Amino acid sequence: MTMIKSTTTTTRTNTTNLSTTRSSSSSAPGCVSSSSRRMMRSNKDKCHHQSAVVSRSRSTLTTTTTSRNFYHNNSNTNTTQQRRRIPTTMGGVSPLLSSSCSSSLTSSHVVTMTMMRRRSVKNTRLSTTSSSSAAGENSSTTQTTTTYKRRDRLAQIKANDHGKSKVGKTLELKGWVRSNRAQKDRAFIDLNDGSDMSGMQMVVLQEHVDENVWQLVAGATSEVSTGASIRVKGKVVESPGGKQSVEVLVDELEIIGKADPATYPLQKKRHTLEYLRGIAHLRPRTNTIAAVSRVRNQLAFATHQFFQQNGFLYVNTPIITASDCEGAGEQFQVTCLLNGLEEEGSAGAAASVAPQDVEKVEQKVKSQGDIVKKTKADKGEGNATKEDVDREVKKLLALKEELTELQSGSNTPQTSVKELPKLKSGGVDYEQDFFAKRSYLTVSGQLNGEIMASAVNDIYTFGPTFRAENSNTSRHLAEFWMVEPELAFADLNDDMDCAEAYLKHCITHVLKHCDEDLQFFEKNISKDNLRERLQNVVDQDFARITYTEAVEHVLSAKKKFEFPIQWGSDLQSEHERYISEEVYKDRPVIVRDYPKDIKAFYMRANDDGKTVAAMDVLVPKVGELMGGSQREERLDVLEKKIEEVGLEKESYWWYLELRKYGSVPHSGFGLGFERLVQYVTGVENIRDVIAFPRYPGSADF
Ligand code: 4AD
Ligand code: MG
Repeated sequence: MTMIKSTTTTTRTNTTNLSTTRSSSSSAPGCVSSSSRRMMRSNKDKCHHQSAVVSRSRSTLTTTTTSRNFYHNNSNTNTTQQRRRIPTTMGGVSPLLSSSCSSSLTSSHVVTMTMMRRRSVKNTRLSTTSSSSAAGENSSTTQTTTTYKRRDRLAQIKANDHGKSKVGKTLELKGWVRSNRAQKDRAFIDLNDGSDMSGMQMVVLQEHVDENVWQLVAGATSEVSTGASIRVKGKVVESPGGKQSVEVLVDELEIIGKADPATYPLQKKRHTLEYLRGIAHLRPRTNTIAAVSRVRNQLAFATHQFFQQNGFLYVNTPIITASDCEGAGEQFQVTCLLNGLEEEGSAGAAASVAPQDVEKVEQKVKSQGDIVKKTKADKGEGNATKEDVDREVKKLLALKEELTELQSGSNTPQTSVKELPKLKSGGVDYEQDFFAKRSYLTVSGQLNGEIMASAVNDIYTFGPTFRAENSNTSRHLAEFWMVEPELAFADLNDDMDCAEAYLKHCITHVLKHCDEDLQFFEKNISKDNLRERLQNVVDQDFARITYTEAVEHVLSAKKKFEFPIQWGSDLQSEHERYISEEVYKDRPVIVRDYPKDIKAFYMRANDDGKTVAAMDVLVPKVGELMGGSQREERLDVLEKKIEEVGLEKESYWWYLELRKYGSVPHSGFGLGFERLVQYVTGVENIRDVIAFPRYPGSADF
C-alpha cells in the first residue's frame, strides 16, 4: 500500500530549446449578420453566419479574510441592494491547498472559501463556517490511500528544492530528447518529459557507461537525437554548471523510439506558431504549446476548485440541442438525413467497370489510331480530304476520353444525391431525422444550466460549445470551451461579484503554480511584464461602468477607430480593448446594462424599457472575456419577448415553465476558456491555446 501525498511547489530553473516565435495572424474583424435583430446584435468580429452539417472527515474550512478585495462600493450600480462582501486570502487559496494542486489530485485537501455567496450578509467578517452543506462536504480534509503510484515525473522530482533532496538517489526517467551535445568523452542530453519547462540534464561519461551506450549517444550514427524517446537510469548529482541545481549521471540508456533527424519536423531552432499549426500532432512537444497546455490544465483545476469551494454543483449540459440559446443563428446542424448519401450509384459505378470492358475500348482506340494514320496517308496521296482526317481524329479523341473515364472509374465514385424527405410545403421533413426535429451542436449550456439552478441552486457547466460563425479572427474558434455558472436567487450584482472573484482566483492560482511557464511567456511571447499585469488584476477592483458610459468613452476618445459607434450598436473588439487598456489603464472592466436590441432574448428587461441587465467582462489584449446577464424570470415579460424576437414559443415551453413554477431571480455568465488562456499567457492567436483548434477550413488532427 502506498500513500500518495502531494507535495510540490515549483520553483524551476530556466528554459531551453524548441521555442516558438510569436507571430500574429489576427485578421480584421468583418461584419455582416443576417436578420435585422441579428444585425443589431453581435456583428462583433464576424463575417457571415453559415450553417454546417454534422452527420454523424474532517472538515477544515478556513476562511481567513482580509476583506480588502472583492468588496466593491460601486456608484455605478443601479440597484439598491448591498453589494456582496467576498472574502479572500490572496484569491482564496490556502497555503495548504495550493501546495497540493500542482502535482497530484489525489491528495489531502484543505479548502478555503473564496467567495461566500451570502447576500444578506452586510459587512460581515466571515470566520469559520461553511455557507452550504455542499461546500461543507466538498471541503473536507481527506487522505487518499491507494496502491496506485505512477512514476514521478521531472516536475515532481524537482519540486520544492529543484531536486536537491534527490541527490545520491538512483532514478529511472523516461522522456523525449530535446538536444544532445556530444563532446570528446562526454555528452549532455537535455531530457524533457512534458511535466515542466526545463526538464533535466543527463550527463553521459564515456568512461562510466558501456561502449554500446556511448556509441548510441555519441557515435557517428547516434540515435539519441532531438525528438527520440529514451529511458535513462542514473544517479542524481549536484550540477557544477549554474544552469540547473542537479543533473543525472547516466548508468543505463535505452532508445524507446527513434526520431530520424533528417526528417523530424521539429528542429532545435525556433518555429513560427503558424508553422506549428500545420503539425499539431507534434507541436505539444514545443516549449510554447507544452507550457500553454500546463497553464490550461491549472486554469481548469482552478475553475473546479473555485466553484466547488463555493458550493456550486458541477453539471453536464447536452452538446446536441434543438434550441438556439444566443439566437444568432450560428449553429452547426446535426442530421442523419444525409447519411449514406454517396452510397447510391457509387458502388454500382465502380463495380460495372470490368477489366474486359476496358480492354475492348483499348482495342478500339488502337484500331481508330490506325485509321487516323491511314487517312492521313490517304490525304497525302490525294485520296482523302482534311475533313476526312478531322472526322477520324475526333473519333479517336472521343474513344480516348472514354478509355480514361473507364480506367479511373473505380477511383472516382459517381455520386447521386439521395432525395431528402420533404414536407408538402417543400421544406425538409425533420420529423424523419434522428431526433425528429431540427437539431444542432450547442452554442451554450445556459438554458439547461438554468433548469438545474432552478432545482439544485448554484451550478456550473464546463464543456465544449460550437459556433458556425465564419470569423477568421484571433479570438474566435468554431469549437471552444465555456465555463458557465448559473446562480439561483441572484441578481446582476451577484453575477458580477462572482465573475470578478472567479477570474481573480484563476489568476492567483496560475501565478502561484505556473511561475516557470509564465516566465517563459513573459520572455518569449508577451514580451512585457505579464506577471506584474496579472498580479494587478488580482490586487485591484474591476472597474464597473454602464454601456452608456462605455459608448461615451469611445465617442470622446482622441484615437480613430475602424468601426464607428453610436448608442445602440454593439461594442467592437477595438472599443472594448480601448476601454480596458487605455481608459482604465490595463484593468478589467465590467460593462453592464446593454441596449435590449443587441442582446439575447433571455436577458432581464431593465425598468428604463431600453436596456437589459447584461454584463460583459472586458480585459486588456483580449476584449470580451465573459458575457452574462440576469435572466428574465417574469413569465409574462419573457413570453412577450419571445414573440417580439420571432422565436417559436412552443419550442420554449419548458423554459417558460421554469417561470411558471417556483421562478426565482437568477443570473449567470459564460467565460470563453480559450480567451482566458490567451489572457493569462499573452498568446496572441486563440488557435494556439487549444491543442486541436477548429476554425473555418480546418478540422485536421
Ligand atoms: O457572450 P456569449 O455569447 O454568452 C453566452 O453564450 C451566454 N449564454 C453565456 C451565459 O450567460 N451562460 O459567450 C460567452 C463567452 C464570450 O464572452 C467569449 O469569451 C466566449 O464565450 N466566446 C468565444 N470564444 C471563442 N470563440 C468564439 N467563437 C466565441 N464566442 C464566444
Ligand atoms: Mg457576448
